[in-house]
Amino acid sequence: MGGTKTLIFLQLVYITACMEQLDIIYEWKQLDFQFLTPEARQQALDSGSFIPENNIPMGLEIYGDRLFITVPRWRSGVPASLTYVNLKDNSTKSPKLIPYPSWAAHQIGSDGKPEIVSPFRIRADRCDRLWVLDNGKIGNLETNKTKFLPSLIIYDLKTDTLIRKYVFPEEQVKEESGFANIAVEDTDCDKTYAYAADLGKPGIVVYSWEKNESWRITHHFFHPDPLACDFSVKGRNFSWTDAIFGIGLSAPNADNFSTLYFHPMASYNEFAVSTEYLRNQSVADANFNAFKLLGSRGTNAQSSASFVDPKTGVLFYSLVNLNAVACWRTTNKEYLMKNQGRIYMDDVKMIYPTDIKVDYDENLWVLSNRMPLWMYDKLDPNDFNFRVFSAPVLNAISHTACDVTPRSDILDKFVNKLKNVTNKIANKIKPNSGVSNNPLSLAVVLLISAVSLLM
Ligand SMILES: *[C@@H]1O[C@H](CO)[C@@H](O)[C@H](O)[C@H]1NC(C)=O
Ligand SMILES: *[C@@H]1O[C@H](CO)[C@@H](O)[C@H](O)[C@H]1NC(C)=O
Ligand SMILES: *[C@@H]1O[C@H](CO)[C@@H](O)[C@H](O)[C@H]1NC(C)=O
Ligand SMILES: *[C@@H]1O[C@H](CO)[C@@H](O)[C@H](O)[C@H]1NC(C)=O
Ligand SMILES: *[C@@H]1O[C@H](CO)[C@@H](O)[C@H](O)[C@H]1NC(C)=O
Ligand SMILES: *[C@@H]1O[C@H](CO)[C@@H](O)[C@H](O)[C@H]1NC(C)=O
Ligand SMILES: *[C@@H]1O[C@H](CO)[C@@H](O)[C@H](O)[C@H]1NC(C)=O
Repeated sequence: MGGTKTLIFLQLVYITACMEQLDIIYEWKQLDFQFLTPEARQQALDSGSFIPENNIPMGLEIYGDRLFITVPRWRSGVPASLTYVNLKDNSTKSPKLIPYPSWAAHQIGSDGKPEIVSPFRIRADRCDRLWVLDNGKIGNLETNKTKFLPSLIIYDLKTDTLIRKYVFPEEQVKEESGFANIAVEDTDCDKTYAYAADLGKPGIVVYSWEKNESWRITHHFFHPDPLACDFSVKGRNFSWTDAIFGIGLSAPNADNFSTLYFHPMASYNEFAVSTEYLRNQSVADANFNAFKLLGSRGTNAQSSASFVDPKTGVLFYSLVNLNAVACWRTTNKEYLMKNQGRIYMDDVKMIYPTDIKVDYDENLWVLSNRMPLWMYDKLDPNDFNFRVFSAPVLNAISHTACDVTPRSDILDKFVNKLKNVTNKIANKIKPNSGVSNNPLSLAVVLLISAVSLLM
């Protein structure tokens, strides 16, 4: 009896180990920053401008040799809310965070706020610009809250200089607004669009780089599902009513518009819309049917961040209750459970996957941060709480439902074999029959039946 149980347990462990297709690149017990001097660090600790346990990494992005990490100002004691680490420096797995673009950008200015207030997620586009979606709130988990208007802050990644700051117009920001996720459609560097999801008051603020203007799109699919608001992470139960959250943009379609895949946080469903309907408010209002329901992931499968790899067309997404990262091929016609692939699942290391990206060298990156435990409880400073995972996309999806290689390999082999067989038949028939198009039609029939079998 006990032996059987052990055996099953071992098999489970073995299978789970096989599924772990990501490597841990960095891990931290607590975050620390690269202060200019040890004295400056001590001073920050003494004055309360640096309170280590109040710092949690929320978003990540990769550009060249740098891995960017955001540290929102939910609580006091966050010395810098946008930072990076040098990917080339492999001297430690727990590197200190370097403020971006400088320490000065994080110091309170004459207007009572720093240049960068509190970003959650960021995006480096293919035109060498870093788009920082600044939430604008300080201390929203504390009694002493300060609210500034959210903004888009855009840096030139080649020179690390500020190239534009766009503050959202007051009428596009609501009392309950919370801007945590951004997607950037950079097909044309001069006509780039940024999409900022409002999880507090369901909506998307769309910004046109060319026009330097924004507008707000609303749709009922952006709303939370009241039946999907219960969460359970590591035995801690809580209720969240977050609206539109994960937004992932496909590569441009034939009409040059991308598809935005999206889901509210409190929802089991995935939706999609062409950006054609987001780029113009009146067009969006007149075409609410252009927003499509793709399908459901099933009970308990709420998802936070998501990202579409434009090269493979694979949509990666987190499963916050399951401590997992999963995937779906956007080329699949159906959004069904059996079409969802599991990339990584671990009840210790993957507690609350908070951000997902694919870099320009086709590597998948995931950040996990145990956020619900940090929010409602306390993290153990002696345990690794924050982790950055990575692997080449093709390795991460291999042997999952999202695999793009084996299926076509099998198909190629099958077609080759079929050709050989039909050639043999053709060669046999040819000498005697004297009818030349018979073997050809036989081959066509065989091919068609084989293809329909594969479908
Ligand atoms: C660190 O990187 C250097 C240069 O890329 C390499 O030579 C060295 O083996 C690496 N060290 C470790 C511990 O990975
Ligand atoms: C609240 O924040 C303001 C501005 O940061 C600060 O001046 C004030 O002392 C804070 N009050 C409390 C009670 O922490
Ligand atoms: C964009 O518009 C804002 C006002 O909404 C303005 O402050 C800013 O200077 C403009 N930037 C450019 C590059 O035109
Ligand atoms: C938390 O929710 C799960 C189901 O999601 C339930 O099984 C469990 O008993 C709940 N725990 C507490 C402490 O309420
Ligand atoms: C898409 O963009 C390309 C390159 O700018 C252009 O050549 C093509 O005509 C566009 N296609 C459509 C359907 O607009
Ligand atoms: C939005 O679309 C409407 C209707 O097609 C059009 O009249 C309007 O000029 C468009 N607005 C912009 C800003 O392109
Ligand atoms: C088909 O035939 C070719 C040459 O005749 C051979 O190289 C190849 O391995 C065969 N393919 C299969 C799948 O049998």
